[in-house]
Order: sequence, then structure tokens, then C-alpha cells
Amino acid sequence: MKIFSGSSSIDLAEEIAISINLILSSFELTVFTDGERRLRVLENVVDEDVIIIQSAGMPIDQNYMELFFMIDAINRSGAKSITIVVPYLGYQRQDHVFRDGEARSIEVIIKIIESMNIDKIVVLDLHSIKIPELFSIPMIHLSALSIFANRIKKEGWNNENTILISPDMGGIRRIKQISEILDNMPFATIDKNRDLLTGEVKSNVVTGEVRNRAIIIDDMISSGKTILAGSELLHLNGVKEIIVFATHPVFSDHAVKRLNNDLITKVFVTNSISVKLEDNSPKIEIISIAELIADYLRE
Ligand code: R5P
Repeated sequence: MKIFSGSSSIDLAEEIAISINLILSSFELTVFTDGERRLRVLENVVDEDVIIIQSAGMPIDQNYMELFFMIDAINRSGAKSITIVVPYLGYQRQDHVFRDGEARSIEVIIKIIESMNIDKIVVLDLHSIKIPELFSIPMIHLSALSIFANRIKKEGWNNENTILISPDMGGIRRIKQISEILDNMPFATIDKNRDLLTGEVKSNVVTGEVRNRAIIIDDMISSGKTILAGSELLHLNGVKEIIVFATHPVFSDHAVKRLNNDLITKVFVTNSISVKLEDNSPKIEIISIAELIADYLRE
């Protein structure tokens, strides 16, 4: 078995490789002055089972193109099988047509991936339950929720002193899942509206009784507007301590500035996307998903 990483996931891939007793194999990557990328496999992969790890966070299109070129290079080099691990599947929020005339972008991405002769794709905490149905090749859907639940227990946040919060109605399934893992920790949901053109977020009401400590659970933080609007609403409703757990740190559009406010005590995210150095903040803690993925690959 050989394991490769694209340029977006090197740290995570190295952790995974160590965990499954492999050495990360390498590509040669040339970036031309016009931005075109040329990839070359530097190892013999004939008859090997190959794993490629590449997350599709920002720059999303570039990371996808690199993934497609990696798959092609490995295929041309005679691999026996290819499994791709895409911890963050970019475009997943465009999983349906919101307004007439729009593209269903995630379906386009999935069609491209499936046309490339791969055997399996491994993904993490997808935005909606509609997405797995769009795949016709084997798809493994892992979740960081149990890792989050373990951390919540370790911190001593329990059913007596804490409430879980979904920052929007779309997160209900997720919040019920983690509540079950945490012995039915009580939960409430925020009613949120997002302007489809401007991206502005308005959090209107919390359905459910709040407590002093609230833990917001979300699949991703992109602009941070959902978390900020939700935190302001919780604060108005009397919550004193707000903690956030979100799987994917997309961190677009000054998100970290929005998270660095006094209402929020701590933000936990995973390394499904590498957090840029300039986005490091004492408020943000990164929890690794390397073991979760390594456990699956070891099977
Ligand atoms: C929305 O349905 C998602 O679950 C996230 O809450 C949302 O995508 C986060 O985006 P942002 O950080 O830009 O508000």
C-alpha cells in the first residue's frame, strides 16, 4: 500500500501515514507562471493499493484540480486500486438547487470524481444526508462527532450543566446524534435565515430552554457569521459561556476575527482543512482526525 498527499493535506497525511506504519510517498509538483500545475508520481505504484489524501478547502478549485491530476497520474502509473480521502468535500453546501436556474455544484464534482476510475472515496461529516445518495461508487462517510463527544465528556461538561445547540434547523440530525452519544444531553435549535445573495445571517429564536453553558455544534465554519449570530442570540437569551465545535475550519472572509469576540469562550475544529498560520488563535483548538481516518484505512 502507498499513501500520497496533495498540497492541501500534507500535515494530516503525514500523521495518518505514521499511524498506519507507512512513509508518505511523494509527487513532484511544478507550478507554472500562469498557475497551471504539473504533477508527476515519483514512486513505483504498479499493482499497489494507493491512497490519495487531499482536502478541498480554499483555494477550492485549485485543490480539486490537483486531486484530479493526482488520480490521473496514479492511474497512468499502473496502480491496482485508488482510494481518495477528501476530508472536506468542497461545494457540498450546493447540494440542491435553491433557486431556479442554479447549478447543483456538488453533483458536478461527484460526476467528475466518479469518471476518474477510482475505487472508493472517504469523506468526513457531510453537510446533508442528500449527498451520499449522489455517489454511485463506494463512499465511506466518517464523522468527528464521537471525537467531539469524548472531548465534551473529558471537560466535565455534562447533562446537568450544559445544553447543545444547533445553530440552524439544517443541523437537527447532527445535534440529535451527538446528544445520543452524550447520554441524551438536552439540545435546542436556532432558527436562522441566510440571505442567498449577500450571505448575511440572521438568527431569530432559540427553540428550547437554554442553560448557562451552551455548546454549539456545526459541520463547518466558513465566514463565521452563523456562529457569531447564534452566539449573540444565545447571549441575549442569558447564556454565559459559549463553546463551539465544528468539523471543518473553512475560515473564509475574516472568520477568525468574528470568532475572536468576548461572547465565545473556545472553538474546537478538526484538521480536515489545514488552518493557516495567520488564523492561529488561542481561542481555537485543533483536534486531529488522523486516528479516525487511520483506523478506517487499517481495516
Ligand atoms: C449551514 O447550513 C452550515 O451548517 C454552516 O452553519 C454554515 O455553512 C457556516 O457558514 P458561515 O460560517 O459562513 O456562516
